[in-house]
Amino acid sequence: MKTPFHLNEKTILVTGATSGIGFQVVKSIVEMGAKVVISGRNERKLNNVKKQFGDAVIQLLAHDLTDEKEIESLASLSVNLNGVVHCAGIVNPYPIRYLNFKKLDETMRLNYYSAVVLIGQLDRKKKLEKGTSIVFISSISAQHPHKGGATYSSSKAALESFSKVVAMEYSHRRIRSNVVSPAMVKTPLYEKAAEDASHESMQAHVDKYPLGIGDPEDVANAIIYLLSDASRWVTGTKIVLDGGCLLGY
Ligand SMILES: NC(=O)c1ccc[n+]([C@@H]2O[C@H](COP(=O)([O-])OP(=O)(O)OC[C@H]3O[C@@H](n4cnc5c(N)ncnc54)[C@H](OP(=O)(O)O)[C@@H]3O)[C@@H](O)[C@H]2O)c1
Repeated sequence: MKTPFHLNEKTILVTGATSGIGFQVVKSIVEMGAKVVISGRNERKLNNVKKQFGDAVIQLLAHDLTDEKEIESLASLSVNLNGVVHCAGIVNPYPIRYLNFKKLDETMRLNYYSAVVLIGQLDRKKKLEKGTSIVFISSISAQHPHKGGATYSSSKAALESFSKVVAMEYSHRRIRSNVVSPAMVKTPLYEKAAEDASHESMQAHVDKYPLGIGDPEDVANAIIYLLSDASRWVTGTKIVLDGGCLLGY
């Protein structure tokens, strides 16, 4: 059967590829037939990913995406791409009274600035093929903020707006840009949030999910659709993945 739901003959860059959602995205992309360029800060962790997926991983790019020069270097080294999945992100919750420019910068640099500079540099270095699909990972926190989320929620709201700008500026090359917006997903980032919160408040939150909290695979499946030609008419939009927790909001 001829189907557009595959990634054969595509090469896709995944940032944050060493953990959580990014790691699962690499796994799912490989299963769907594409080659992957993986990015993270830690070479040892990148090598571990390479060991698991072998020849399907064609490039390992160890760069800190909070540093503009490192993003430029990543873009220079990268092979040409048919897809980009920007998964690298941090949470860093702070009450507003403790925020200052430095603390704002810590989160904004990775969650927002890196997205803008990464796409800009990949474009300047002509690494984005015609028809490239770009996927950013937002969060339901962009529209449903939480206490302590001044930087995280704002960074994800900014990211969502940026994705729409990418969709507009690059449509003449049929380059598409979309966002997935997950609620809580079981990853190391979630485990840390669970450690910081009380058992009762965590349980109260988990109870709000009719389908339970998500697995990385639940997010990766939507990303695979956005990377594939099955979504060739989809750009500038968002897929919310929430296990039903926003029902009734
Ligand atoms: N988990 C959730 O519940 C959830 C919900 C909604 C949205 N999200 C979003 O989904 C994305 C992935 O989250 P996750 O839960 O999979 O997180 P995670 O398990 O903590 O993984 C984060 C990844 O980002 C990389 N990274 C961190 N800082 C970096 C930096 N300065 N430069 C380059 N890479 C860096 C890490 O690699 P190294 O440590 O090797 O550098 C790691 O691969 C994030 O954008 C997050 O906001 C997560």
